Amino acid sequence: MALLFHSSGDSPEAWKAALLALEPGLDFRIFPETGNPAEIEFALGWAFPPGALAALPNLKCLCSLGAGVDHVFRDSTLPKGLPVVRLVDDAMADDMGDWVALNVLRFHRRDPEYRRFQTERRWVRLDQPYAKDRRVGILGIGFLGQAVARRLSAFGFPLAGWSRRPKRVPGVESFHGPEQLDAFLARTDILAILVPATPATENLMDARRLARLPKGAAIVNAARGRIIVDEALLAALDSGHISVAALDVFREEPLPSEHPYWCHPKVLVFPHIAAYTDPETAAAQVVDNLRRARAGAPLQNLVDMQAGY
Ligand SMILES: NC(=O)c1ccc[n+]([C@@H]2O[C@H](COP(=O)([O-])OP(=O)(O)OC[C@H]3O[C@@H](n4cnc5c(N)ncnc54)[C@H](OP(=O)(O)O)[C@@H]3O)[C@@H](O)[C@H]2O)c1
Repeated sequence: MALLFHSSGDSPEAWKAALLALEPGLDFRIFPETGNPAEIEFALGWAFPPGALAALPNLKCLCSLGAGVDHVFRDSTLPKGLPVVRLVDDAMADDMGDWVALNVLRFHRRDPEYRRFQTERRWVRLDQPYAKDRRVGILGIGFLGQAVARRLSAFGFPLAGWSRRPKRVPGVESFHGPEQLDAFLARTDILAILVPATPATENLMDARRLARLPKGAAIVNAARGRIIVDEALLAALDSGHISVAALDVFREEPLPSEHPYWCHPKVLVFPHIAAYTDPETAAAQVVDNLRRARAGAPLQNLVDMQAGY
């Protein structure tokens, strides 16, 4: 069974070394050096060019090179019925927990205001609410959202999560479905976005939904840029309804140099670094699914192609 790799952002050499350490003799090929397409049975990658996978007649599985799979759905020629799996990696979850906690704590402890005072050489001491009075909401409480909740639980913030289906997560008030979204937002002072980009979540945080957040709320987006309507967020920041936003993901990446986010005084821009995919930690699950695909056994971390994540 040959594996075909493609990514513009991940190192093929690092992936090859990590996979071969677990599966010596693996026939690892790098797109577009496909060789005989009929020999490729497993594809591992990020954003294969549209049509590339449809040209592989014996493909048994596509493994996304990350937790998100929105890039997979951009290919309208994706073979119907092709099983797609994604990475579910504890190391990635730890990274995500750190990054979201960094920004939640930054906003809770009013760091953006202190940084501004520093540039003005002003010694100002602001009121500081207790963590028990700062409500954090996690929009999308799946694998990564729950890792964030575990990290944040140490600080004592009242936590809530929003999901598609009802969910029980220890220490987290549960909201689900579109009908409970407004109530979830209304009780959220700091919103951490970790919901996947799907047709159902595209533009989810529009002007109306942003207005449901309490005045002065903060936003931390670690999911995808398409979930927020940028013009609506900029207007809410300018009006003061939203106090600050930490953004790791954008509709267009890299963020174009002329984009207003770059220089906005209330926006912190990060270059999609919240959680990396590390071949060292993730290779074992790729090899496990490779062996399962080869044996015709059920795959792990399968994507629900109807739901889009
Ligand atoms: N910035 C970065 O570096 C980085 C790194 C990795 C991943 N990510 C992003 O993080 C996202 C989440 O990853 P994950 O592994 O936590 O995914 P996951 O385990 O599939 O969890 C997704 C969560 O979102 C909820 N959800 C999905 N569609 C919904 C809808 N229409 N309405 C309400 N809730 C909905 C799911 O609800 P149910 O529980 O009911 O299914 C689940 O709770 C990825 O898709 C990716 O975009 C970003």
